[in-house]
Amino acid sequence: MSFTLISEHPLTALNTFGIAVNARHFTTLTERADLPALLTSEAYHQGPVLWLGGGSNLLFTRDYPGLVVKVALRGVQVLADDGDTVLVEAAAGETWHDFVCHTLAEGWAGLENLSLIPGTVGAAPIQNIGAYGVEVKDRLDSVVCADLSDGGAEVILANADCRFGYRDSVFKHEAAGRLLVTAVRFRLSRHAALKTGYGDIQRELDAQGIATPTAQDVARAVIAIRQSKLPDPAVLGNAGSFFKNPVIDAEAAAALLARFPTLPHYPAADGRVKLAAGWLIDQAGLKGYRQGAAGVHEKQALVLVNHGGASGSEIRALAQHVQDTVRARYGVELEPEPIVL
Ligand code: EPU
Repeated sequence: MSFTLISEHPLTALNTFGIAVNARHFTTLTERADLPALLTSEAYHQGPVLWLGGGSNLLFTRDYPGLVVKVALRGVQVLADDGDTVLVEAAAGETWHDFVCHTLAEGWAGLENLSLIPGTVGAAPIQNIGAYGVEVKDRLDSVVCADLSDGGAEVILANADCRFGYRDSVFKHEAAGRLLVTAVRFRLSRHAALKTGYGDIQRELDAQGIATPTAQDVARAVIAIRQSKLPDPAVLGNAGSFFKNPVIDAEAAAALLARFPTLPHYPAADGRVKLAAGWLIDQAGLKGYRQGAAGVHEKQALVLVNHGGASGSEIRALAQHVQDTVRARYGVELEPEPIVL
């Protein structure tokens, strides 16, 4: 066995909320070849087991009572290149934004709108990360997994098999706890059409006087927008948007829009309507609101932050208050985006 088990390991630096909890057992997975031994270890069998990426989409409310495995598999390789399109595979433990920068530096377009999203490559397909009109599913070819119920045997899921939805995939449902993402394959292009239709991007490019942007220009615009409203987890603990944008049926949306005509909304699948949760929270007067060290971010109401030393329970209590306030005012249920443990 070439992995090392540590007992009572602090997780403070391993979750972007910066919540101070311990894992009963902890190990780092750096080699896929270590997986079979890990899967037969006592700590694994005792459970529960948490596979950790960048720790940017979870909230710990207490010490983790089992085994935490930090997935640190590394490597990027080109599997195919026809001069226009490349098929590139990145290991699960690669930092998402570093990988995006690498693809752009190689001249491969496609991931520029997803610049500066915290977390790892392996976590990207799990919640189908998305920003500025692009979701990871739009650029993803397939996902390489280890089947944990079969000694870690390799299984490759094609894009369609992942059943991607808004911040959703098969990895949150049937495959949860069974398939571990070990690498992700992307199809990128040297001549991809850029997606600059999202309001903020066009405004940012106009402000910079860029009429015919490159993929790198779009990435720089996205980075500038994100830095202007989303807190840097290294400075202020957070997990990005704490709530999903709620999707409601057309009738309920029409009634709500009659009362709140300026509520930003977007068409969703099956004639349903997606509402801007940040606006609902903001207009309910909660932007910048604080309960002790837990707060609603002052520049983006959809983000909850740890002002320093907040416990996971305090963040959860604030989230509950936000949900209750929004329900009372608009009759809309907000669903947390991060996993609450
Ligand atoms: N708004 C407010 N007040 C606020 C926040 C937002 O009025 O405090 C309004 C904005 O003015 C805008 C609308 O709400 O009209 C939407 O806001 P924004 O464009 O900032 O995007 P969002 O819907 O709040 C989503 C994603 C983000 C992603 C952005 C950009 C979700 C849950 N969040 O946020 O993703 O970066 O769009 O595409 O879908 C994340 O998932 O962690 C995340 C940051």
